Amino acid sequence: MISIVGSGRVGASIAFLCVSNAIDDVLLVNRDRKKAIGEALDIASAIPADSNFSIHGTDDYSQISGSDIVVVAASVEGYTKDRTETMDHQVKMIKEIAQKIKQHCPSSIVLIISNPLDVLTYFFQKETHLPRFKVIGIASNLDTSRFRYYISETLSVPQSSISNALVLGEHGDSMVPIFSRVKVGGNPLFSMIDNRDTITKDVRNYWKKLRNYKSRSQFGIAKNTFDVIDSILHKKEIRIPASVVLEGEYGENDVAMGVPVVIDQNGVTEIEKIKLDDTEFSSLKKSSEKIRKDIKSIHS
Ligand code: 2OP
Repeated sequence: MISIVGSGRVGASIAFLCVSNAIDDVLLVNRDRKKAIGEALDIASAIPADSNFSIHGTDDYSQISGSDIVVVAASVEGYTKDRTETMDHQVKMIKEIAQKIKQHCPSSIVLIISNPLDVLTYFFQKETHLPRFKVIGIASNLDTSRFRYYISETLSVPQSSISNALVLGEHGDSMVPIFSRVKVGGNPLFSMIDNRDTITKDVRNYWKKLRNYKSRSQFGIAKNTFDVIDSILHKKEIRIPASVVLEGEYGENDVAMGVPVVIDQNGVTEIEKIKLDDTEFSSLKKSSEKIRKDIKSIHS
């Protein structure tokens, strides 16, 4: 079973993908029971006729017991300019949710997608002491989709010709698109563009641009989360950047941030060590310092 805590647009979109692709039973958990039940009833009409699975909604955490995966997509408050704006309240929320998941479902793999992503991934793991490779912050793969999109638009090439694109570090203004490894049609991207700064800015500000047109992003994060769920349930390895608590990897400790990982049915099985150029490495340092500063600013 997949439990999804938070059944707003993002939680509901993930549930819709899971249900319509018939990959497992889904439980929507929301403090507003009516909302959880309403979304579940709506999505239930998308269950394929040959599916073995169903969807239900509840406000009762004890029902998550036995879940293989718990997705945390909850949010107590919105933000407008920066994902850390409501950090204090979000951290308080994640600690409460962490205790409930620890109580009812301590051996699940937990996917955090609430913001500020890296800070919440860190506090969830510290609060529960679940194995750090089973608490995975999902966002850098979304940022990577955006990076690929801008490369594709800039060069007028299909995304299928782009390989090795990666965004690391914070899911925030300090995120680091890694240009040095990207190939387009087998050739280094470096030789094709001279506007790295523009693309970096565009990737970082993608969500703000989107918000000029609709209230908030929904489908991109849903699909990127669904891909991880699918790889866990179907035991097929996926290589993406994701946020995990670091213990020495990339020279970092006591912080969670986006790094390249391998995920399978056991959660993260490896943090890949990849070569970065000097500029990228120092940008990644700055990014980890930014997250660490945010973490330290929380008084619990
Ligand atoms: C996004 O990047 C807001 O974190 C969300 O779309």
